[in-house]
Amino acid sequence: MGQGLAAAYRAGLVTRADVFLQTKFTYVDGQDHRLPYDPAADLSTQVAQSMASSLEHLGTDHVDSYVLHGPASGRGWSDADAEVWAAMARERDAGRTRLLGVSNVSLRHLEQLAASGAESPHFVQNRCFARLGWDREVRAFCAERRIVYQGFSLLTANPEVYRDRFVGGLAARERTTPAQVIFRFAQAVGMLPLTGTSDPAHMTQDLASRGLTLSGEEVRAIESLVG
Ligand SMILES: NC(=O)c1ccc[n+]([C@@H]2O[C@H](COP(=O)([O-])OP(=O)(O)OC[C@H]3O[C@@H](n4cnc5c(N)ncnc54)[C@H](OP(=O)(O)O)[C@@H]3O)[C@@H](O)[C@H]2O)c1
Repeated sequence: MGQGLAAAYRAGLVTRADVFLQTKFTYVDGQDHRLPYDPAADLSTQVAQSMASSLEHLGTDHVDSYVLHGPASGRGWSDADAEVWAAMARERDAGRTRLLGVSNVSLRHLEQLAASGAESPHFVQNRCFARLGWDREVRAFCAERRIVYQGFSLLTANPEVYRDRFVGGLAARERTTPAQVIFRFAQAVGMLPLTGTSDPAHMTQDLASRGLTLSGEEVRAIESLVG
């Protein structure tokens, strides 16, 4: 990623100010052999070492968003999460990230984080399954608190929507693709959609989805298509 950015800067395609860099802190259980910290260190030290590694790789002195990849336990917001979250806030206070987020969280995680009195995340980044109401409860929690909901795997998690006849009909009417209809729908219900494309043509299409028009009724129909 850092090499790609450096090449883009050198070629004059973009400057650092034009890009939004978001990276994550990941607990040791979610890491592979390329551990960016000493696994024997305490969690606060791991966060600091992980951030230093990310900044070095990305060739920058700060990222725009730093996200907790996932809580330590699926059962709830734990003491470990609280320690990591506080360490991430110190990284932000030191200017190494502008914003903070959490990922792969349930409503329960978010309610417990809020009840702990710790600061609220700027972003919630979740895999968004249509069959689970497109993460309706978490999105509602975020909307109430002005947390930006980043939806990911909008295409790969929802092949049944991608192939759906109603979505296909909307795509045909708008002379666009089902992928673009899904990204436009995501924006219409208040998400900031993430795309995992590595294809420049698809990226152009994904960005162009902002220009599509879907009626409120069509948005509601997609929202309740399978969940
Ligand atoms: N927090 C987490 O745990 C976590 C986990 C996974 C991902 N993420 C984030 O979420 C982002 C998206 O996730 P994802 O890769 O699972 O999601 P995705 O966007 O649903 O899936 C990407 C796939 O969709 C295809 N695609 C994208 N735009 C398309 C278009 N206009 N037409 C046809 N196909 C299109 C891509 O193929 P092409 O490459 O051929 O376009 C790729 O195969 C990632 O980049 C990452 O930042 C976060």
